[in-house]
Order: sequence, then C-alpha cells, then structure tokens
Amino acid sequence: MEYQILFNTLWNEYTQRNPEALKVYQLFSQKNSPIINDHIAFRTFNDPRVNVNVLAHFFEKMGYKACGEYHFQQKKLFAKHYEHADPLAPKVFISELLTEKFSQELQDIVKKCIDCIPDKTLKSETLLYSGVAWQPLSYHVYQSLLKESEYAAWMYAFGFCANHFTVNVNELKQFNELSEVNDFLLKNGFKLNTSGGMIKGTPEECLEQSSTLAEEIEVKFDEGSHKIPSCYYEFAKRYKLANGELYTGFIAASADKIFESTDVKSSKM
Ligand code: NI
Repeated sequence: MEYQILFNTLWNEYTQRNPEALKVYQLFSQKNSPIINDHIAFRTFNDPRVNVNVLAHFFEKMGYKACGEYHFQQKKLFAKHYEHADPLAPKVFISELLTEKFSQELQDIVKKCIDCIPDKTLKSETLLYSGVAWQPLSYHVYQSLLKESEYAAWMYAFGFCANHFTVNVNELKQFNELSEVNDFLLKNGFKLNTSGGMIKGTPEECLEQSSTLAEEIEVKFDEGSHKIPSCYYEFAKRYKLANGELYTGFIAASADKIFESTDVKSSKM
C-alpha cells in the first residue's frame, strides 16, 4: 500500500470522528494550500500482538525507517518515531503504554480487549484504523481505567486510529511563528491546550508545538452515551540544528504535556 492512500484513509476517519479538526484544516487551507503534515501519532499498548514494533511494521513496509526513541517516565510510555525518504511524507510517531507498570486489573482489561481483535486484522495495516474490536464498551470500565491512566482510558474508548495529525508550521505561507498560529486559532474560537504553556518546546530545543484541546464527542457505552475527549490537532514549528538541517525528532518533556490534550480534567477547564 502506498503511504498516501493509507494517510488519506486515516485522515478521513480522523476528521469524521473529529469534525472540529476538519474545521481547523479548512480554516488554514484557505490561505496555505497545500497543508503539509509534520507527523501523525498513534497510541497502543505494549502487548506483543499490537506494540510499537507491530504498528511500525506496516509503515516500514512502505519505506519508513525507525529514527528516534522516547521515554515518558510520568505517563509510563515508550515511543519511537519513523521517517520516510520522501521529505513530504509525514513522520510517524507511535507510543505504547507500559501496562506492567499499572494494576493487575488494568492489565487484565487490556489483554481482554486485544483478545477481541481478529487475527486477520492483527496481520494487516487495517489494524491502524480498526478502532475498537472490544464492543460493547462499558462506561464503568472506562472510568476505572481513567483513574490510573488517561491514555489507557482513551485507548479503551477509541482503539486503533490516528490520535492526531500535525500541521507543519514551517510550510505555512500565512504565518511564520507558532504564536501567530495560536492567536489565529483563538481568534477563531478554538480552545488550545495550555498544560505546560501554550507553546511546548523552545527554539533552542529545535521544536515548538501547540495543540487544540481534544473535542468532546459522544461515545456509545453499554450504560448509555457519554461525552468524552476524543482527538486534537497539533501544530509544529521546527528549527535548524547546528549543521543547518531542520530537527526531525521529538522532545519527550514536551510530548508529556501534549499528551494531556486529551485529559478529561484539562478539557473541562
Ligand atoms: Ni504530536
């Protein structure tokens, strides 16, 4: 599969689930066509059936190569990022929850969920947008996961899909600075994630990022529908390294904060 086809499928699923992301995209595409994606992020669990390496394998078959590794101590996550030889291809960022660092109850729930994924799905790139195979969802389970890990609860509710797309701010014609992008978003009524400041990262770290707050969408649970935070849209500005090349990696400390864009607590603020 060509990566463009896969990314189109992921984008359609992402914007159907998060109509606000499409609104943001349309707002920017009026004056900045085409919008270049800096990276696309995926979440998963470190179960060997679906871990980072399993998801990455589908991208590696399309020419992606592993580049950086990241440890998120506080969120108990491990992540890797992948790049393609085509500089216009988005980078791919995949994180996994280190489930053994959580309660036995959480580990059992995760295992049961993954047991529901058909073998055929596990072997194909359709896994990347397969959503939740563990239907029906229980709001009680969602809430019990939320107490331990927002990330685990999010995965339980949404499963496999693109967690966020990211606008490459360097390639925007309309704006040069991330602060201008943020002002434009705020002026147009979008809420931004303010955990760790509106802008995560610094020019010295060669990467600045900001993101919208995850839209709350209605999810069907066994006990009835509930509004919960879904996905956000991210913006990244990259700076040159001493060798004159743009930095292509990520910063663990900033990403720790960006992960909070889907926090139930911060989205209520
Ligand atoms: Ni990101």
